[in-house]
Amino acid sequence: MNQNLEQIVMGKGLNRHGFDMTIVEQNRTPFYYYDLDVLRTTLDEIQHQAAGHRFKVHYAVKANGNPLILKEVVNHGLGADLVSGGELKAAIEAGFMPQQMNFSGVGKTDWEILLGLEHGIGCFNVESIQELEVINQLAGECGKKADIAIRVNPDIDAHTHKYITTGTADNKFGINIEVLEHVITQARNLPSINLRGLHFHIGSQITLMQPYVMLCETINALMDHYEQRGIRFEIINVGGGLGINYIDSEHHLIPDFKQYFDTFKQRLNLRPEQELHFELGRAIVGQCGSLITRVTFVKESRNKKFVILDAGMTDLIRPALYEARHEIQNLTSIDIQTDTYDIVGPVCESSDVFARDCQLPVTRRGDIIAIRSAGAYGESMASTYNMRALPGSVFHSRK
Ligand code: LLP
Repeated sequence: MNQNLEQIVMGKGLNRHGFDMTIVEQNRTPFYYYDLDVLRTTLDEIQHQAAGHRFKVHYAVKANGNPLILKEVVNHGLGADLVSGGELKAAIEAGFMPQQMNFSGVGKTDWEILLGLEHGIGCFNVESIQELEVINQLAGECGKKADIAIRVNPDIDAHTHKYITTGTADNKFGINIEVLEHVITQARNLPSINLRGLHFHIGSQITLMQPYVMLCETINALMDHYEQRGIRFEIINVGGGLGINYIDSEHHLIPDFKQYFDTFKQRLNLRPEQELHFELGRAIVGQCGSLITRVTFVKESRNKKFVILDAGMTDLIRPALYEARHEIQNLTSIDIQTDTYDIVGPVCESSDVFARDCQLPVTRRGDIIAIRSAGAYGESMASTYNMRALPGSVFHSRK
């Protein structure tokens, strides 16, 4: 663990898991607790590892659009990766520069495209011929030229959960390599389109570098192929997807950005004038957030003990939707004895389960529980199903 982080985890007034218990006890549960020091250290590390190269990191706003998080990200000079008009508005509000915004998504509607054109965003990542034609038409009508990249489906298996893999030929994202040449020719002939680059995104929660190495090889081959035809791309965008450690978060608060950026430094034959864009979400905000919740009841059935929380799948849907694992900690019990529990929420769905057969110190009604590594795709995927209130958010920093 680096020294900065050690101070964060062990800092004064914090409990053994790094939480400020005054904040934890005083706020109404359930809520998201964001550790700004972890977020800032993460962003500093990205700046450090990506420096000195033509690397531009964009933050995938979908991971967490909380305005205070966006402000921190802007202050560290990152761009924004967007997938909706709502995210575009939030990014403008937070102070991101339109030129540093990329807009992806297979189904951009006309008003969303117009909003992007109005602000002059850096790049529309185009996912189909029809979208290309519509952007050309709308840009022409406003007397503008749209900056675009073509999203390529590289048919690479990222070996991640089936719902979050995006770069194989069978899913809806991007343009297949077989038809890429045709789409590029089309884009170069359309009067209101300025083709700037190629975009890729192979999936999320990727923890091995091998899929990224394969991506680099595919891109190298494509660049050689098109250069022989006199076509050079100004931008290569490799998307996001870098994973985080959900099992032992406290000792892995900062993802291995060095290994990640080094993979591209070493394996991608970037041309001197080219920019390399990244779109990271989870790796930036995942570890700074925890869902704080209270035990409503402890219930015993014939074979099981259930810890029933006041947070449910409406607050954090990842375990129910992807069978995702999140570390669960009892922040109040100091019992040295442990027991085995299923940790569940109050929502009327049998998938409303955070963990099965989880070992915790003996847990009682009123105890406070932290569900860790919930900064990404936690608050941003919350819903009001069962007419529940959305979870609140609380920010903590020692500085
Ligand atoms: N770029 C594009 C085009 C994307 O579709 C995504 C995520 C990202 C970048 C950022 O990926 P990241 O660095 O965060 O892995 N809700 C799921 C994850 C869905 C990811 C969707 N696309 C989860 O909770 O695991």
